[in-house]
Amino acid sequence: MGKLKYRNKLADMPSYDVVERDWYIKVNANESGLNLPPLVEDRVMSRLSRVAFNRYPNEDLELLMEGIGRNFGLGVENVIIGNGSSEIIEKLFYCFGGRGRKIVFPQPSFSMYHIYAKAAEAEGVPVDLSTEDYSLDVKKYVETVNDNKASLCVICNPNNPTGNVMSIEDIEYIASHTNCAFLVDEAYIEFHGKSAVGLLKKYPNMIVARTFSKAYGLAACRCGYMLASAAICNMVSKSFMPYHMDVLTLVTADTVFQMRDEFVPRIQMVIAERKRMEGQYGTLAGFKVFPSNTNFIFLKYDKAQKLNEYLVERGIGIRSFGKAPLLENCLRISMGNREENDAVFKAVKAFVEEQD
Ligand SMILES: Cc1ncc(COP(=O)(O)O)c(C=O)c1O
Repeated sequence: MGKLKYRNKLADMPSYDVVERDWYIKVNANESGLNLPPLVEDRVMSRLSRVAFNRYPNEDLELLMEGIGRNFGLGVENVIIGNGSSEIIEKLFYCFGGRGRKIVFPQPSFSMYHIYAKAAEAEGVPVDLSTEDYSLDVKKYVETVNDNKASLCVICNPNNPTGNVMSIEDIEYIASHTNCAFLVDEAYIEFHGKSAVGLLKKYPNMIVARTFSKAYGLAACRCGYMLASAAICNMVSKSFMPYHMDVLTLVTADTVFQMRDEFVPRIQMVIAERKRMEGQYGTLAGFKVFPSNTNFIFLKYDKAQKLNEYLVERGIGIRSFGKAPLLENCLRISMGNREENDAVFKAVKAFVEEQD
């Protein structure tokens, strides 16, 4: 058999390196620890029972785009729905990428930015966050964007995996000092509340990406969206295949969006749990707890690697970053329900006490 002619450099592409298994407690992917609220689930099931499976999805997409647009004072022409915000981000990298193009993003941040830049045959240009507190030096960031004549720059606010936030003033500083497309990834914004969406009308190069996978507990459905000027949406829409969203996801996401008030108490619960757990981990010898504005906590501990192995042996899945740049000895633990958070902490504490 002859050698297959895969696309150039495909073999060198890194994979998304999360090890999954049947965890006893799964707090490694920043999902919601709770399934849909029962009232929402009932409504979803009742709508799904009326789906026309024989038809390509059409009005369900429009309905969701309208609902989302209206909520932000925008029109359908300002909204694109994707299979998770992952698809949106990948398409944006594709649309602004290509050979000779540069895409700037912070490091450490969402690990897929590197991979999407490679997939788009663009050059990813990381800007290192401060080693002290993982803040972004916006002046340095803007200089990097402009010196490299980047076609796209990205920030993640709040940032994954470090959990910290940028002020709206800093985001506006970037928007007003660059002239390329500027993506603000707001995957965790519901846990912070201070969105950059309000800047979209003033800065037509800005794009905001959001997801249903985190605060709205819809990771299984794969649904996200972006908000931007009609001109950007029009161009980026060209990169999607026809009928790219399936009707089951659209109907479910639309119901969740209409009933989003049902999610407010659980978002508050996650925030309260995060604060409680940050306090608890702060009491452990050798732990540095970074302030987070998300549904996860971010820690540094000398024996992070060994601790992670200890937890894996006990069926507890957290996120350890191995040798990723600027993330040595760092761990990210998503917030589950109170019992899960207590169980994870108990196991971590037992490990720490064994070290003395
Ligand atoms: C910062 C950030 N952006 C985007 C995503 C993609 O989420 P999804 O594709 O589920 O919408 C994630 C997922 O973990 C994330 O952490």
